[in-house]
Amino acid sequence: MNNTKTIVAASLLSADFAELGRDCKRAAEAGCDWLHFDIMDGLFVPSISFGGPVLKTVGRIAELPIDVHMMVTEPVRYLERYAALGAAGITVHVEACEDVSATLKAIHAQGIRAGISLKPATPAEAIFPNLDDVDMVLVMTVEPGFGGQAFMPDMLPKIRAIRAALDERGLDTDIEVDGGINGETAHLVREAGANVLVSGSYLFAAEDMSAAVASLK
Ligand code: DX5
Ligand code: ZN
Repeated sequence: MNNTKTIVAASLLSADFAELGRDCKRAAEAGCDWLHFDIMDGLFVPSISFGGPVLKTVGRIAELPIDVHMMVTEPVRYLERYAALGAAGITVHVEACEDVSATLKAIHAQGIRAGISLKPATPAEAIFPNLDDVDMVLVMTVEPGFGGQAFMPDMLPKIRAIRAALDERGLDTDIEVDGGINGETAHLVREAGANVLVSGSYLFAAEDMSAAVASLK
C-alpha cells in the first residue's frame, strides 16, 4: 500500500434527495473526506441520475470537496460548466471519450483534479497511456449505473496491476474504488492498493454513519 491515509467519499446517489443539504452535512460530520457526485446520462449507462442544477445546489452548500464521477458519453462537453459549479475534481471514463488525453487536459485547464475510470470489463492496460496525466484512477468494482450492487472481487488484481504500474513510474497517484464498498470489502481494496473509497448505500443506510466511516479507514 503506497498511500497510508484512506480518503472516504460519500456517494450522494444514496442520499435522501428530499434532505440533500442535511445528508451533505451528515457526511461531513461523520468524518467523510469528500462528497462523490455521480452524473449519468442514460446512454453511457442505462440510468439518468442528476446533473448541473443539482451540482449547483451541492456546490453552494457543501463543506467537503466534490468528487464528480461522469458516467456520460463525451464528457468534454460539460467540464467547464461543472468546474464552475464547484467540482474539485472530475473523473471521466476511458470508454466514453473519443480523445481521452485532450479530455484530461481540458479538466486540468479548469484548475481542478483529473481522474480516469474504467468499467469492470476494461483491462488495466487501457489506462496505462494516461497514467502521467491523471491525479486519480477510478476502478469500478461494480458495473456502473446503480448503487447497492455487490462488490466484484475479481477487480482486485486490476487494482494491484494499476498500483504496480504507478509504482514502476514513480507515481503516487490516488486509486479510487467505487461500488459495493463496506466494512468487509474495504480492507481488500486497501490491501490491493486503493486509497480513496467511495461508498453510498453502506454509509447512508448505517444507523451510525461515523462508525461506518471509521470501518472504511
Ligand atoms: C455506481 C456509482 C456509485 C454508487 C456506489 O455507478 O458510480 O458511486 O453510488 O454505490 P454503492 O456504494 O451502494 O455500491
Ligand atoms: Zn461513482
